[in-house]
Amino acid sequence: MDGGELVRSMKVVGSIQGWRAARTAWRGRREDARELPPRGPERARVPGPAAGAEPSPGGGTVRFARAELHVCVTVGGGVFWGWDGAEPLPSYALDGGPPEPDPRAALEPDTDGGWRVVSERVTVAVSRHGGVEVRTPGGVVLRRELPPRWWEPVAGGPARWAQRGEVPADARFFGLGGRASGPRLRSGTYRLWNTDPGGRFGPDDDPLYVTMPVQLVVSDAGTHLAFYDNTWDGRVVLREGEEGAGSGHDRPGTSELRMEGGPLRCWVVTGTPARVLHTWTALTGAPVAPPSWALGPQHARWGFGDEREVRRIVAGYRERDLPLSAVHLDIDHFEAHQVFTVDRERFPDLPGLAKELRADGVRLVSIVDPAVPAAPGNAVRASGRAEVPGGAFVRDARGQEVRGVVWPGECVYPDFTDPAVREWWGELYEERLAQGFSGVWHDMNEPVSFAPFGDPTLPRSARHRLEGRGGDHREAHNVYGLAMARAGFEGLRRLRPDDRPFLFSRSGWAGMQRYGGTWSGDVATGWPGLRASLSLVLGLGLCGVPYSGPDVGGFDGSPSPELYLRWFQLGAYLPLFRTHAAIDAGRREPWEFGARVLEHARAALVERERLRPYFVTLAQLARVTGAPYARPPWWGAPEDRALRACEDSFLLGDALLVAPVLEPGTDRRAVRLPRGRWYDTGTETAYEGPGQVLLDAPWSRIPVLARAGAVIPVRGPGGRPELEVWAPAPGTTGGGLVVPDPGDGWADGEIERYTSRWADDGVRVERVTDEGPVAPRWPVRVRGVR
Ligand code: NOJ
Repeated sequence: MDGGELVRSMKVVGSIQGWRAARTAWRGRREDARELPPRGPERARVPGPAAGAEPSPGGGTVRFARAELHVCVTVGGGVFWGWDGAEPLPSYALDGGPPEPDPRAALEPDTDGGWRVVSERVTVAVSRHGGVEVRTPGGVVLRRELPPRWWEPVAGGPARWAQRGEVPADARFFGLGGRASGPRLRSGTYRLWNTDPGGRFGPDDDPLYVTMPVQLVVSDAGTHLAFYDNTWDGRVVLREGEEGAGSGHDRPGTSELRMEGGPLRCWVVTGTPARVLHTWTALTGAPVAPPSWALGPQHARWGFGDEREVRRIVAGYRERDLPLSAVHLDIDHFEAHQVFTVDRERFPDLPGLAKELRADGVRLVSIVDPAVPAAPGNAVRASGRAEVPGGAFVRDARGQEVRGVVWPGECVYPDFTDPAVREWWGELYEERLAQGFSGVWHDMNEPVSFAPFGDPTLPRSARHRLEGRGGDHREAHNVYGLAMARAGFEGLRRLRPDDRPFLFSRSGWAGMQRYGGTWSGDVATGWPGLRASLSLVLGLGLCGVPYSGPDVGGFDGSPSPELYLRWFQLGAYLPLFRTHAAIDAGRREPWEFGARVLEHARAALVERERLRPYFVTLAQLARVTGAPYARPPWWGAPEDRALRACEDSFLLGDALLVAPVLEPGTDRRAVRLPRGRWYDTGTETAYEGPGQVLLDAPWSRIPVLARAGAVIPVRGPGGRPELEVWAPAPGTTGGGLVVPDPGDGWADGEIERYTSRWADDGVRVERVTDEGPVAPRWPVRVRGVR
């Protein structure tokens, strides 16, 4: 079947699908109308005046006339508060139990009739009407929450609530999961409901696949992260503040969170960006480091067609001497799009193919969709019904399996919020491993059910086990992808205990970094999509998910050679570096855009491979510290307002500043430098920050600057590891952390600390050990010395 026919047949399938989708969407709507009647009259409630307080470890409980608030400062500095009995657990975000209460933090009366908890890193003040303020130890207010408001249905049912907060006038908002319009989140409304935008998205599309009630707020007063641990549907209305607004007074920034139900509880973490991410990932789990091969260049495509085409692509890379680490197979390698199957006509010997590619250093990664065909003959469905007590699939309130429509037609959906279902599902990955796959790519797990109208997901009334507590899709929806990631990750770990799983997932929620990363999803081909790619990676990194990257070249259509090249050059510096495209999209191989693009794409690939040891180091450091590999330029200097306003470059670790070209027709671009000396790695010219410089950005490269003094592990000539050291500025010293690749198992990488300084004989580099400085383990190459 040629590409055209394939597209046409997809369209035919599409029309049958369309009819089925309309039918299921209609049924879902009816089911919801029956089970979730309109809310009817509601009673509004506010806490009312404070009536007393009781201390407890780390803080205490303040009683108000119509509500109560529990506040606890934990060891490590995270602050928790919960209204009306909300405790940290149960939580899908937290990694195990919450941290211990800080024994030195105690509740005491405040001057205005309120209460406060004072600790070493933070003070939490509760006003007598139920406002909550988070202050630095110096007393500067980072966040002020006004008393919350609830609306309780008179007839019973979940209470909606709203929480409005203020941040300093100069504050900037980031995070909320993966947002295409950022990284800085401007004034506007952002929805908290994981959503497949349906085929392609640009900067104006919101929400997308990964939403999180996580805000990272940066202001002159300090940085903080606020996390409202609530999985329900909601909206965040952000309004950036304004200094000197109206008669010279500052207007604070505001955040208003409106939730459809669920607990009102919040974690706030304060400190430098590095400290905030460290505390946040201590709370929600260390980002698992991908194996080293997953930090190399990867190629995916929906619609390779058959194994000959896969071989042709891999040979194309090899013949042109282009490095390639992995090839990803999409749903078209399944039999009739059914998960955990192989189309044996087009892929007669997948294990053989995997072995052959592996000998060439190329791994295979498989897509895994959650929806299981409802057709009676489907083995996965039969096993899910037989092997999980009560059945593995989501049911409606009357006990019927809920149906949806996805690629294979009518489907049922595993309920990943049930531990037994997760265990059963995890075992299914044995089939993928037997086919020779080295990693998995979770897709369509918002979860999607195609719908010509309404929300393309399961009905809100669909029942979920929710770890035994029971509930419905309103509560389970946003954690569906997260729980699926857990099932896959734990399954792979059981099946191959010696290997660190490689998994990335389109949908997810706070804490998903414990199981793997994510990717952009179907980012629209075009310059706005290129910009959105960077926004997503940076925003997710600030929410604790450091491993992600875009579909290089965009998901749909055909990029111009220039756009493809610029996307490729950006992708080469992002954690997940993968080309991918839709079944009816144009080619994405680097050689399909002419000799000039091929030459420059090769340079990007070679540079990525040269930097592989640095990426390994960043992955290991992310695991230990929570710091994302790709960080906004203000990471080390959040007080620098000019950097805070800069959205078109990023720091890769501590050492590199990457300034991608995000506009057509560019051969020079302005780059804002953080403080200190920076070298243009292309020319070795030194520039002094802070400030802005204009740098060449010819087709052959994007500006990448190295911090003076940086020590960067790279692959030197012949692939041997070496340390690339950028000369410190006169009178200054530098250094860097290096983590040699601990392999693909569970060994922790050993962190080596290096220093660089000027000595009589030039730049001297030493490794810091308990016994004092010693010579570096790897050869050193000094750059930036004229
Ligand atoms: C949607 C995903 O976002 C995309 O990457 C994939 O190619 C298609 N589903 C088909 O599986």
